[in-house]
Amino acid sequence: MNHPPIAPDRLPELLRRMPKAELHMHIEGSLEPELMFALAKRNQLTLPYPDVASLKQAYVFDNLQDFLNIYHAGTQVLRTEQDFYDMTWAYLQRAAADQVIHTEIFFDTQTHTGHGVEESVVISGLHRACVDAQAQLGLSASLILCFLRHLSEAQAFEALEQALPQLDKLVGVGLASSELGHPPEKFARVFAKARALGLRLVAHAGEEGPPAYIWGALDALKVERIDHGVQAMKDPALMARLAQQRIPLTVCPLSNIKLRVFPSLAQHNLGQMLDAGIMATVNSDDPAYFGGYINDNLTQTFAALGMTAQHAYQLAHNSFAASFAEASTKQVWQDRLAAFFDSFE
Ligand code: HPA
Ligand code: ZN
Repeated sequence: MNHPPIAPDRLPELLRRMPKAELHMHIEGSLEPELMFALAKRNQLTLPYPDVASLKQAYVFDNLQDFLNIYHAGTQVLRTEQDFYDMTWAYLQRAAADQVIHTEIFFDTQTHTGHGVEESVVISGLHRACVDAQAQLGLSASLILCFLRHLSEAQAFEALEQALPQLDKLVGVGLASSELGHPPEKFARVFAKARALGLRLVAHAGEEGPPAYIWGALDALKVERIDHGVQAMKDPALMARLAQQRIPLTVCPLSNIKLRVFPSLAQHNLGQMLDAGIMATVNSDDPAYFGGYINDNLTQTFAALGMTAQHAYQLAHNSFAASFAEASTKQVWQDRLAAFFDSFE
């Protein structure tokens, strides 16, 4: 890729304006406190916090489980199809402002069915917002149903079963929630079934958990991408495999800091991953909780690690390559990216 040299002080603008895809964002984690209070009011529910400011003060976490507890409490306000639509539409507008032109949205169903909300209500609300995003924002959006790994295999099968009437609204399945103590192998059979149904496969692995969970996601679940995967650096043989097989990692730097996976952004391994030939991407994970959307993740990480315009191009290119879009569509997006870099001045 040849483009005019880009001065380091222009990098934040380049990062903000470049077209990109987001591949790791939990829609329930995009629920901003203001909207959470509005939905609570609409549904005549009372949150355990008196106002937005005191809720935001609770967003300090020691680890993944700490966060998941608060995240699940926040999902209680989501009751109707319109609630799911409004949450998703808010994210999609925010993503479009960050020049996200394609997004693959994670969502839980087990959280909501646990609150008495039907799975079809969840999927319908999310899907309607995705359709509107294409029409009104020119933003392509698809949906990935995440099984909750702290629940049983039988419950994951049940979630998949309940999604069958709306299978055409999903691009794939994933695996989220408490990682430690819940290795991927527990879900091998449900992932095999999803695969047989034509769904694409991803899983969270190596966020807090060991490299063995990344091997397990690849070999037992047969996933095509690893969500997080930052613990792979502890295992040279795994790093070699990820690089050779071009297995994408959806990295979420601000999440990793908030959940204390790394002590600071300056100690994050994203730059080393890219330099080792790993197909990494940058994503926001749970932007309402972790202090920023995708462009905040990019600009803050680049500043902390001294990354360059070449890294920016690589990350955006990877984001399209790693997506589940058609090959011809990926090519259109990558051409648009190249044209953007060529004309950036
Ligand atoms: N890890 C696991 N599960 C999750 C996360 C995460 O970062 N965010 C929402 N569910
Ligand atoms: Zn995640």
